[in-house]
Amino acid sequence: MFTSSQLLEKVNDYISHLIYGKQPSGLYEPIEYAMSLGGKRIRPVLMMMAYNLYREDVDSILSQAVAIETFHNFSLLHDDLMDNADLRRGMPTVHKKWNTDTAVLSGDAMLVLSYKFMSGSGRRYVPSIMGLFSRTAVEVCEGQQYDIDYESRMDVYEHEYLEMIRLKTSVLLAASLKIGALLAEAPEEDAQFLYDFGINLGIAFQLRDDMLDVYGDPEVFGKKIGGDILCNKKTYLLIQALHRADVKQLQELKKWINAENYDPEEKIKAITALYDEIGVRALCEDKISHYTLLAETNLDMVKVPEEKKQPLLDEMNKLMFREA
Ligand code: IPE
Ligand code: IPE
Ligand code: MG
Ligand code: MG
Ligand code: MG
Repeated sequence: MFTSSQLLEKVNDYISHLIYGKQPSGLYEPIEYAMSLGGKRIRPVLMMMAYNLYREDVDSILSQAVAIETFHNFSLLHDDLMDNADLRRGMPTVHKKWNTDTAVLSGDAMLVLSYKFMSGSGRRYVPSIMGLFSRTAVEVCEGQQYDIDYESRMDVYEHEYLEMIRLKTSVLLAASLKIGALLAEAPEEDAQFLYDFGINLGIAFQLRDDMLDVYGDPEVFGKKIGGDILCNKKTYLLIQALHRADVKQLQELKKWINAENYDPEEKIKAITALYDEIGVRALCEDKISHYTLLAETNLDMVKVPEEKKQPLLDEMNKLMFREA
């Protein structure tokens, strides 16, 4: 059995030796750049952890693990463009360091290469993973579209938000776990419980991301604080604030949301102050606990000895309190 840090080391080592391509360098350098900046690598680690519940030869699925990480990084190249984000993992985003065309095209190549890695090398391969991977990839796009659509809507309901983050974030974590289980030829039931675990974990994960976007330490978080506020993202915080604001607070929130010419820092400060006043941070924390508990229940259902599941449980708790 491997620890999460041992698995992380394997993933990082594999990525550091991986050649995405050489020429034209304008296409491949940004890919190397994005992939070399690290990040938490939780998706490949989760995949290997799920696999490791059943089998010890974890190295045999490194190609698929890195496929999922390559797909994730592709989504970030495009996401940063869509969210107009300048900073990721403490470094300039690809569209800032290069330009928009580069973020689009290098991202496209990463998407295609992720399919190659998913279906290609590696001793283990199960055809059903390709269907799951494709379905997941399209769902991420659907989630991203809802995320953008909701920027210009004022009446987004909590259930719509939850569905949006299930699509844009959770399904990829869930698929990582399920693919790990399928590659290990785990019982279908277990694979599904691991998928459900990933869904609930992913919802807690995105709620935490939304919270860190307002309350995180920029040095540790690696992204610019307040990005969601500037885009009028309908995060759990904003949805709750709009729902619970009194007349004066609602007027103030709407003023900032509809403002066209404003000082970005001033808007972030004002909306954060309203969040504090209305008390939405604690609501978000409660929601994170709720989904973490649900995830734990899903993991309970997986029929392997408790001690084997401990690393997944530890990973879940680590993510719940993460600062980055
Ligand atoms: C960022 O994902 C995008 C979200 C789904 C919130 P991560 O928080 O996993 O980013 P990295 O890969 O660790 O940088
Ligand atoms: C991430 O949502 C979802 C995907 C990248 C698919 P965010 O837009 O919140 O992610 P960050 O905060 O930029 O990492
Ligand atoms: Mg973003
Ligand atoms: Mg986004
Ligand atoms: Mg975010």
